[in-house]
Amino acid sequence: MAKKKIAMLTGGGDAPGLNAVICSFVRACLNTMDYDIIGYRFGYRGLYRNEYIPLDRHTTSGILRQGGTILFNSNKDNLFDYSVEENGVTVKKDVSDQAIETMKKENVHALVVLGGDGTLTSARDFARKGVNVIGVPKTIDNDLPATEVTFGFDTAVNTVAENLGRLHTTAESHHRIMVAEVMGRSAGWIALYGGIAGSADVILIPEIPYTIENIVKKINERKSHGKEFTIICVTEGAIEKGGSATIGKIVKDSPDAVRFGGVAAKIAHQLEQHIENEVRHCLFGHIQRGGDTSPADRILSARYGVKAAQMVKEGQFGNMVCLRNGQMEYVSLEDVIGDAKVSVSGSKTVDPNGEMVRVAKSMGISFADE
Ligand code: F6P
Repeated sequence: MAKKKIAMLTGGGDAPGLNAVICSFVRACLNTMDYDIIGYRFGYRGLYRNEYIPLDRHTTSGILRQGGTILFNSNKDNLFDYSVEENGVTVKKDVSDQAIETMKKENVHALVVLGGDGTLTSARDFARKGVNVIGVPKTIDNDLPATEVTFGFDTAVNTVAENLGRLHTTAESHHRIMVAEVMGRSAGWIALYGGIAGSADVILIPEIPYTIENIVKKINERKSHGKEFTIICVTEGAIEKGGSATIGKIVKDSPDAVRFGGVAAKIAHQLEQHIENEVRHCLFGHIQRGGDTSPADRILSARYGVKAAQMVKEGQFGNMVCLRNGQMEYVSLEDVIGDAKVSVSGSKTVDPNGEMVRVAKSMGISFADE
């Protein structure tokens, strides 16, 4: 009789720390249990097609620090609404039962799913069908309500802080206004933390609508103190008072189809109508998700991975690992996702009156709301 298997997959966009979770999970399993471990390639698509690689000491060697995921990601392959070819036409079908059959044939005892809300929604649905599922939350945006911090966030904040520093020197040389657009969707965590750490003068987040007049006010205030340059850090989903977020593109088949983008260019253009300084905009983009994982995220990811292994051992299925009061715990996937049929994203947002906004304001950073 073949050994039972534990399967892992990574879904949605990547985040620094995925490899560290894979590495720590595999090590903890090998040291405490007797299963073969496999990793499906390209998220749920690999599960459907039964395409996987073995996860062992060899295949996970040296990956703790690496961003990305050795299993690859897909943010389009929802097996409950999957595109298949039938008689030459592409149709949408629920192929989850076939996927479950495939796992049974492979002797897969448990499925560990690393992903954001779209991926975890499917995880919940597989759990409802009796699959032994464990979820591990992932997003650089840090906007998942059920856990205090997600891995990848710290790395993204480091990248933003470092690159805002680079903008400072060139902005100062040219007496320019620089507008840097950062990720986060409808949550301002990356801009807020990265902006404070990177000494931004203005931070614009979706939770606090801005006005161009108030940005200009801050620029002029700095000028009156002899500072001819200003650094603005804006969340991609930031909103002008009375306006709406700037949509970059729609990605068909993605659980959350809207991609924000373009707000920095828009603000730069608007500012040029009001001030004499040159204005430039800059998109930090996917650089925030790339590169090496920060040491803090490696440690956090190791904690998530080891906790997931412990949950497999104890049979705590249908749950998601979470960080609560600084401790690794778990919460039911039903409670995390609720009854949503599709993903619900961006629900943990910045409190406009919370401590970090107050800290920033006390330091003289403007949110362009006053
Ligand atoms: O959810 C993480 C995130 O990085 C968002 O901040 C960003 O808007 C989005 O993913 C980008 O997605 P994609 O990789 O599809 O461009």
